Amino acid sequence: MKSLLFCLLLAAPMVAHGQGPFLKDRYKFPIGASLNPRLLAENEAYHKVATSEFTSVTAENHMKMMLVHPEANRFDFSRGDEIVEFAQSTQKRVHGHTLVWHNQVPKWMNEFSGDTQAWENMLKNHIQTVAKHYKGQVAGWDVVNESFLDDGTLRPSIWSKNIPDYIAKSFQWAHEADPNAILFYNDYGQDGKPKKMQAILNLVKDLQARNIPIHGLGLQMHININAKNEEILSVINQSKATGLAIHFSELDIAVNPKNDSTFVYDETAIKAQQEKFELVFKSYQNLPKHQQYGITFWNVSDRDSWLRGYFKRPKEYPLLFDDTYTRKPIYSNLLN
Ligand code: G3I
Repeated sequence: MKSLLFCLLLAAPMVAHGQGPFLKDRYKFPIGASLNPRLLAENEAYHKVATSEFTSVTAENHMKMMLVHPEANRFDFSRGDEIVEFAQSTQKRVHGHTLVWHNQVPKWMNEFSGDTQAWENMLKNHIQTVAKHYKGQVAGWDVVNESFLDDGTLRPSIWSKNIPDYIAKSFQWAHEADPNAILFYNDYGQDGKPKKMQAILNLVKDLQARNIPIHGLGLQMHININAKNEEILSVINQSKATGLAIHFSELDIAVNPKNDSTFVYDETAIKAQQEKFELVFKSYQNLPKHQQYGITFWNVSDRDSWLRGYFKRPKEYPLLFDDTYTRKPIYSNLLN
Protein backbone atom coordinates (compact mmCIF):
# COMPACT_ATOMS: atom_id res chain seq x y z
CA MET A 1 0.00 0.00 0.00
CA LYS A 2 2.81 2.34 1.02
CA SER A 3 4.69 1.66 -2.21
CA LEU A 4 1.51 2.24 -4.25
CA LEU A 5 1.08 5.62 -2.57
CA PHE A 6 4.73 6.43 -3.28
CA CYS A 7 4.27 5.53 -6.96
CA LEU A 8 1.17 7.71 -7.17
CA LEU A 9 3.07 10.61 -5.61
CA LEU A 10 5.86 10.16 -8.11
CA ALA A 11 3.35 10.05 -10.93
CA ALA A 12 1.60 13.24 -9.77
CA PRO A 13 3.85 15.76 -11.57
CA MET A 14 3.01 14.02 -14.86
CA VAL A 15 -0.49 15.41 -14.52
CA ALA A 16 0.94 18.88 -14.19
CA HIS A 17 3.32 18.50 -17.09
CA GLY A 18 1.50 17.21 -20.07
CA GLN A 19 -1.76 15.37 -19.63
CA GLY A 20 -5.04 16.51 -21.10
CA PRO A 21 -7.57 17.82 -21.48
CA PHE A 22 -5.74 20.73 -23.06
CA LEU A 23 -6.75 24.29 -23.86
CA LYS A 24 -5.22 23.79 -27.30
CA ASP A 25 -7.86 21.09 -27.98
CA ARG A 26 -10.71 23.00 -26.39
CA TYR A 27 -10.29 26.06 -28.61
CA LYS A 28 -10.32 26.05 -32.39
CA PHE A 29 -7.62 28.71 -32.72
CA PRO A 30 -3.88 28.45 -31.96
CA ILE A 31 -2.85 28.77 -28.32
CA GLY A 32 0.67 30.09 -28.06
CA ALA A 33 3.40 31.23 -25.70
CA SER A 34 6.45 33.37 -26.06
CA LEU A 35 9.55 31.35 -25.26
CA ASN A 36 13.03 31.84 -23.96
CA PRO A 37 15.56 29.45 -25.59
CA ARG A 38 17.76 29.27 -22.48
CA LEU A 39 14.82 28.05 -20.38
CA LEU A 40 13.85 25.60 -23.13
CA ALA A 41 17.34 24.13 -23.04
CA GLU A 42 17.92 24.16 -19.29
CA ASN A 43 14.57 23.74 -17.58
CA GLU A 44 12.89 20.38 -18.07
CA ALA A 45 9.50 21.41 -16.68
CA TYR A 46 9.46 24.49 -18.90
CA HIS A 47 10.30 22.36 -21.94
CA LYS A 48 7.56 19.86 -21.11
CA VAL A 49 4.83 22.44 -20.63
CA ALA A 50 5.93 24.36 -23.72
CA THR A 51 5.85 21.12 -25.71
CA SER A 52 2.50 19.82 -24.56
CA GLU A 53 0.39 22.94 -24.08
CA PHE A 54 0.95 25.20 -27.06
CA THR A 55 0.39 25.12 -30.80
CA SER A 56 2.11 28.40 -31.59
CA VAL A 57 5.33 29.98 -30.36
CA THR A 58 6.84 33.45 -30.41
CA ALA A 59 10.44 34.26 -29.48
CA GLU A 60 10.15 36.48 -26.41
CA ASN A 61 13.34 38.33 -27.33
CA HIS A 62 15.49 36.44 -29.82
CA MET A 63 14.18 37.76 -33.13
CA LYS A 64 14.44 41.40 -32.03
CA MET A 65 16.93 43.80 -33.62
CA MET A 66 19.38 43.85 -30.71
CA LEU A 67 19.69 40.09 -30.65
CA VAL A 68 19.62 39.12 -34.32
CA HIS A 69 21.62 42.06 -35.65
CA PRO A 70 24.27 42.88 -33.00
CA GLU A 71 26.71 44.52 -35.42
CA ALA A 72 26.17 46.36 -38.70
CA ASN A 73 27.64 43.53 -40.75
CA ARG A 74 26.72 40.59 -38.53
CA PHE A 75 23.44 38.79 -37.97
CA ASP A 76 23.08 36.14 -35.28
CA PHE A 77 20.11 33.86 -35.80
CA SER A 78 21.34 31.09 -33.52
CA ARG A 79 18.91 31.57 -30.62
CA GLY A 80 15.94 32.44 -32.82
CA ASP A 81 16.69 29.31 -34.84
CA GLU A 82 16.54 27.23 -31.65
CA ILE A 83 12.97 28.41 -31.11
CA VAL A 84 12.08 27.58 -34.72
CA GLU A 85 13.69 24.12 -34.45
CA PHE A 86 11.77 23.45 -31.24
CA ALA A 87 8.53 24.53 -32.92
CA GLN A 88 9.16 22.42 -36.00
CA SER A 89 10.08 19.33 -34.02
CA THR A 90 6.90 19.65 -31.94
CA GLN A 91 4.59 20.67 -34.83
CA LYS A 92 3.95 24.22 -33.75
CA ARG A 93 3.46 27.40 -35.70
CA VAL A 94 6.02 30.20 -35.29
CA HIS A 95 5.03 33.83 -35.04
CA GLY A 96 7.83 36.34 -35.72
CA HIS A 97 8.39 39.16 -33.22
CA THR A 98 9.43 41.83 -34.15
CA LEU A 99 11.08 43.50 -37.17
CA VAL A 100 10.91 47.18 -36.15
CA TRP A 101 10.72 48.52 -32.60
CA HIS A 102 12.10 51.55 -30.76
CA ASN A 103 13.28 49.29 -27.95
CA GLN A 104 15.98 46.59 -27.86
CA VAL A 105 17.78 48.32 -30.72
CA PRO A 106 21.53 47.51 -31.01
CA LYS A 107 23.98 50.23 -30.10
CA TRP A 108 25.27 50.53 -33.67
CA MET A 109 21.76 51.31 -34.97
CA ASN A 110 21.18 53.91 -32.26
CA GLU A 111 24.47 55.54 -33.25
CA PHE A 112 23.90 55.24 -37.00
CA SER A 113 24.32 58.41 -39.01
CA GLY A 114 23.52 59.11 -42.61
CA ASP A 115 20.96 60.76 -44.86
CA THR A 116 17.42 59.51 -45.38
CA GLN A 117 18.51 57.12 -48.11
CA ALA A 118 21.19 55.60 -45.89
CA TRP A 119 18.69 55.10 -43.04
CA GLU A 120 16.20 53.51 -45.42
CA ASN A 121 18.83 51.17 -46.82
CA MET A 122 19.87 50.17 -43.31
CA LEU A 123 16.32 49.40 -42.11
CA LYS A 124 15.34 47.71 -45.36
CA ASN A 125 18.42 45.50 -45.17
CA HIS A 126 17.58 44.57 -41.58
CA ILE A 127 13.94 43.74 -42.30
CA GLN A 128 14.61 41.84 -45.47
CA THR A 129 17.57 39.82 -44.16
CA VAL A 130 15.58 38.69 -41.13
CA ALA A 131 12.35 38.07 -43.04
CA LYS A 132 14.20 36.11 -45.73
CA HIS A 133 16.07 34.05 -43.14
CA TYR A 134 12.78 32.96 -41.58
CA LYS A 135 10.82 32.80 -44.82
CA GLY A 136 8.62 29.72 -44.92
CA GLN A 137 9.30 29.10 -41.23
CA VAL A 138 7.19 31.84 -39.65
CA ALA A 139 3.50 32.23 -40.37
CA GLY A 140 3.47 35.93 -39.63
CA TRP A 141 5.47 38.90 -38.37
CA ASP A 142 4.92 41.74 -35.99
CA VAL A 143 6.37 44.08 -38.59
CA VAL A 144 6.14 47.23 -36.53
CA ASN A 145 5.75 47.29 -32.77
CA GLU A 146 4.43 50.08 -30.50
CA SER A 147 4.68 53.11 -32.78
CA PHE A 148 2.03 55.27 -31.12
CA LEU A 149 1.92 57.10 -27.83
CA ASP A 150 -1.19 57.15 -25.64
CA ASP A 151 -2.26 60.48 -27.17
CA GLY A 152 -2.23 58.96 -30.65
CA THR A 153 0.86 60.78 -31.88
CA LEU A 154 3.73 58.98 -33.54
CA ARG A 155 6.27 57.87 -30.93
CA PRO A 156 9.57 59.74 -31.23
CA SER A 157 12.25 57.18 -32.14
CA ILE A 158 15.24 56.79 -34.40
CA TRP A 159 12.81 55.46 -37.01
CA SER A 160 10.27 58.29 -36.92
CA LYS A 161 13.10 60.83 -36.80
CA ASN A 162 15.12 59.49 -39.73
CA ILE A 163 12.74 57.68 -42.08
CA PRO A 164 9.63 59.48 -43.31
CA ASP A 165 6.66 57.10 -43.53
CA TYR A 166 8.71 54.32 -41.93
CA ILE A 167 5.71 52.20 -40.95
CA ALA A 168 4.37 51.89 -44.50
CA LYS A 169 7.86 51.29 -45.88
CA SER A 170 8.52 48.57 -43.30
CA PHE A 171 5.36 46.68 -44.27
CA GLN A 172 6.25 46.99 -47.94
CA TRP A 173 9.82 45.73 -47.39
CA ALA A 174 8.64 42.83 -45.23
CA HIS A 175 6.11 41.82 -47.86
CA GLU A 176 8.73 41.89 -50.62
CA ALA A 177 10.97 39.60 -48.56
CA ASP A 178 8.27 37.11 -47.54
CA PRO A 179 5.11 37.54 -49.61
CA ASN A 180 3.29 34.73 -47.79
CA ALA A 181 3.78 36.05 -44.26
CA ILE A 182 0.80 37.52 -42.42
CA LEU A 183 1.90 41.02 -41.49
CA PHE A 184 0.82 42.59 -38.18
CA TYR A 185 0.96 45.95 -36.52
CA ASN A 186 1.39 45.13 -32.78
CA ASP A 187 0.75 47.42 -29.81
CA TYR A 188 -0.27 47.52 -26.13
CA GLY A 189 -2.60 49.40 -23.85
CA GLN A 190 -5.28 50.47 -26.32
CA ASP A 191 -8.03 49.97 -23.70
CA GLY A 192 -8.98 53.29 -22.13
CA LYS A 193 -6.76 55.11 -24.66
CA PRO A 194 -9.18 56.02 -27.47
CA LYS A 195 -6.67 58.30 -29.19
CA LYS A 196 -4.07 55.56 -29.38
CA MET A 197 -6.67 53.11 -30.70
CA GLN A 198 -7.88 55.63 -33.26
CA ALA A 199 -4.31 56.22 -34.45
CA ILE A 200 -3.97 52.47 -35.06
CA LEU A 201 -7.27 52.33 -36.94
CA ASN A 202 -6.22 55.34 -39.02
CA LEU A 203 -2.95 53.60 -39.83
CA VAL A 204 -4.82 50.53 -41.07
CA LYS A 205 -7.10 52.67 -43.28
CA ASP A 206 -4.18 54.67 -44.63
CA LEU A 207 -2.11 51.58 -45.49
CA GLN A 208 -5.07 49.88 -47.11
CA ALA A 209 -5.90 53.00 -49.16
CA ARG A 210 -2.34 52.94 -50.47
CA ASN A 211 -2.36 49.18 -51.15
CA ILE A 212 0.35 48.58 -48.59
CA PRO A 213 0.01 45.04 -47.28
CA ILE A 214 -1.18 44.87 -43.67
CA HIS A 215 -3.03 41.73 -42.67
CA GLY A 216 -3.38 41.76 -38.92
CA LEU A 217 -3.54 43.63 -35.64
CA GLY A 218 -1.67 42.40 -32.59
CA LEU A 219 -3.34 43.40 -29.34
CA GLN A 220 -0.70 42.62 -26.76
CA MET A 221 -3.18 42.28 -23.86
CA HIS A 222 -0.79 43.04 -21.04
CA ILE A 223 -3.74 43.84 -18.82
CA ASN A 224 -4.49 43.68 -15.12
CA ILE A 225 -7.46 42.71 -12.97
CA ASN A 226 -8.59 46.35 -12.71
CA ALA A 227 -8.88 46.81 -16.48
CA LYS A 228 -12.38 47.88 -17.42
CA ASN A 229 -14.30 45.17 -19.30
CA GLU A 230 -16.15 47.64 -21.51
CA GLU A 231 -12.86 49.24 -22.57
CA ILE A 232 -11.33 45.88 -23.46
CA LEU A 233 -14.45 44.87 -25.40
CA SER A 234 -14.51 48.17 -27.24
CA VAL A 235 -10.90 47.66 -28.44
CA ILE A 236 -11.73 44.13 -29.57
CA ASN A 237 -14.84 45.29 -31.44
CA GLN A 238 -13.02 48.12 -33.16
CA SER A 239 -10.25 45.71 -34.16
CA LYS A 240 -12.80 43.20 -35.43
CA ALA A 241 -14.40 45.90 -37.60
CA THR A 242 -11.17 46.24 -39.59
CA GLY A 243 -11.72 42.72 -40.91
CA LEU A 244 -8.02 41.98 -40.30
CA ALA A 245 -6.60 38.94 -38.50
CA ILE A 246 -6.53 39.58 -34.75
CA HIS A 247 -3.77 38.21 -32.51
CA PHE A 248 -3.93 38.55 -28.74
CA SER A 249 -0.18 38.52 -28.97
CA GLU A 250 1.27 38.87 -25.45
CA LEU A 251 -1.47 37.96 -22.99
CA ASP A 252 -0.91 38.17 -19.26
CA ILE A 253 -3.18 39.45 -16.50
CA ALA A 254 -1.40 41.12 -13.60
CA VAL A 255 -2.94 40.74 -10.14
CA ASN A 256 -0.60 43.08 -8.27
CA PRO A 257 -0.10 45.99 -10.69
CA LYS A 258 1.10 48.38 -7.99
CA ASN A 259 3.78 45.92 -6.87
CA ASP A 260 2.54 45.90 -3.28
CA SER A 261 5.10 43.95 -1.24
CA THR A 262 2.40 42.75 1.18
CA PHE A 263 0.21 41.44 -1.63
CA VAL A 264 -1.36 38.00 -1.18
CA TYR A 265 -2.63 36.07 -4.20
CA ASP A 266 -5.86 35.22 -2.39
CA GLU A 267 -9.31 34.03 -3.45
CA THR A 268 -10.44 37.56 -4.32
CA ALA A 269 -7.49 38.22 -6.62
CA ILE A 270 -7.76 34.75 -8.17
CA LYS A 271 -11.46 35.23 -8.87
CA ALA A 272 -10.92 38.66 -10.42
CA GLN A 273 -8.15 37.25 -12.62
CA GLN A 274 -10.30 34.26 -13.55
CA GLU A 275 -13.15 36.53 -14.70
CA LYS A 276 -10.77 38.61 -16.78
CA PHE A 277 -9.22 35.56 -18.48
CA GLU A 278 -12.74 34.28 -19.22
CA LEU A 279 -13.72 37.60 -20.76
CA VAL A 280 -10.60 37.59 -22.94
CA PHE A 281 -11.14 34.03 -24.14
CA LYS A 282 -14.89 34.42 -24.70
CA SER A 283 -14.52 37.60 -26.68
CA TYR A 284 -11.75 36.05 -28.76
CA GLN A 285 -13.89 32.99 -29.42
CA ASN A 286 -16.67 35.28 -30.65
CA LEU A 287 -14.51 36.74 -33.40
CA PRO A 288 -15.18 35.44 -36.90
CA LYS A 289 -13.08 32.34 -37.46
CA HIS A 290 -11.11 33.85 -40.34
CA GLN A 291 -9.92 36.63 -37.99
CA GLN A 292 -8.68 34.25 -35.27
CA TYR A 293 -4.89 34.12 -35.62
CA GLY A 294 -4.63 32.94 -32.00
CA ILE A 295 -4.00 33.83 -28.38
CA THR A 296 -0.37 33.92 -27.25
CA PHE A 297 0.63 34.07 -23.57
CA TRP A 298 3.70 36.11 -22.71
CA ASN A 299 5.85 33.19 -21.54
CA VAL A 300 4.87 29.99 -19.74
CA SER A 301 4.72 30.15 -15.94
CA ASP A 302 4.45 32.97 -13.43
CA ARG A 303 8.14 32.59 -12.61
CA ASP A 304 9.11 33.23 -16.26
CA SER A 305 7.00 36.35 -16.67
CA TRP A 306 8.66 39.61 -17.71
CA LEU A 307 6.65 41.25 -14.90
CA ARG A 308 8.78 39.35 -12.38
CA GLY A 309 12.09 39.68 -14.25
CA TYR A 310 12.11 42.88 -16.29
CA PHE A 311 9.69 44.79 -14.06
CA LYS A 312 11.03 43.30 -10.81
CA ARG A 313 7.61 42.54 -9.33
CA PRO A 314 8.25 39.40 -7.27
CA LYS A 315 4.63 39.08 -6.11
CA GLU A 316 3.06 38.87 -9.53
CA TYR A 317 1.15 35.85 -10.85
CA PRO A 318 -0.06 36.73 -14.34
CA LEU A 319 -0.13 33.42 -16.24
CA LEU A 320 -1.89 30.02 -16.24
CA PHE A 321 0.97 27.99 -14.74
CA ASP A 322 2.35 28.50 -11.26
CA ASP A 323 5.98 28.56 -10.15
CA THR A 324 6.16 24.76 -10.27
CA TYR A 325 4.68 24.65 -13.80
CA THR A 326 1.43 23.24 -12.45
CA ARG A 327 -1.81 24.38 -14.04
CA LYS A 328 -3.64 26.92 -11.91
CA PRO A 329 -7.40 26.48 -11.28
CA ILE A 330 -8.07 29.15 -13.90
CA TYR A 331 -6.91 26.62 -16.51
CA SER A 332 -9.91 24.38 -15.73
CA ASN A 333 -12.23 27.37 -15.88
CA LEU A 334 -11.06 28.14 -19.38
CA LEU A 335 -11.58 24.50 -20.35
CA ASN A 336 -15.20 24.71 -19.35
O1 G3I B 1 19.91 38.18 -21.47
C1 G3I B 1 20.43 39.29 -20.73
C2 G3I B 1 21.40 38.81 -19.68
O2 G3I B 1 22.50 38.23 -20.32
C3 G3I B 1 21.82 40.00 -18.81
O3 G3I B 1 22.64 39.56 -17.78
C4 G3I B 1 20.60 40.67 -18.23
C5 G3I B 1 20.97 41.91 -17.41
O4 G3I B 1 20.06 42.97 -17.58
O5 G3I B 1 19.76 41.09 -19.28
C6 G3I B 1 19.29 40.02 -20.07
O6 G3I B 1 18.49 40.54 -21.09
C7 G3I B 1 17.19 40.97 -20.72
C8 G3I B 1 16.19 40.24 -21.60
O7 G3I B 1 14.90 40.74 -21.34
C9 G3I B 1 16.19 38.73 -21.39
O8 G3I B 1 15.73 38.42 -20.12
C10 G3I B 1 17.11 42.45 -20.94
O9 G3I B 1 17.94 43.12 -20.03
C11 G3I B 1 15.68 42.90 -20.76
O10 G3I B 1 15.61 44.26 -21.17
C12 G3I B 1 14.77 42.09 -21.64
O11 G3I B 1 13.42 42.48 -21.37
C13 G3I B 1 12.49 42.16 -22.36
C14 G3I B 1 11.70 43.40 -22.73
O12 G3I B 1 10.74 43.08 -23.71
C15 G3I B 1 12.60 44.51 -23.28
O13 G3I B 1 11.86 45.65 -23.45
C16 G3I B 1 11.53 41.13 -21.82
O14 G3I B 1 12.22 39.92 -21.57
C17 G3I B 1 10.40 40.88 -22.82
O15 G3I B 1 9.40 40.09 -22.23
C18 G3I B 1 9.76 42.19 -23.23
O16 G3I B 1 8.81 41.91 -24.22
C19 G3I B 1 8.03 43.02 -24.68
C20 G3I B 1 7.63 42.74 -26.11
O17 G3I B 1 8.75 42.45 -26.89
C21 G3I B 1 6.84 43.89 -26.70
N1 G3I B 1 5.72 44.23 -25.87
C22 G3I B 1 5.99 44.45 -24.48
C23 G3I B 1 6.75 43.25 -23.90
C24 G3I B 1 6.94 43.41 -22.44
O18 G3I B 1 7.81 44.53 -22.20
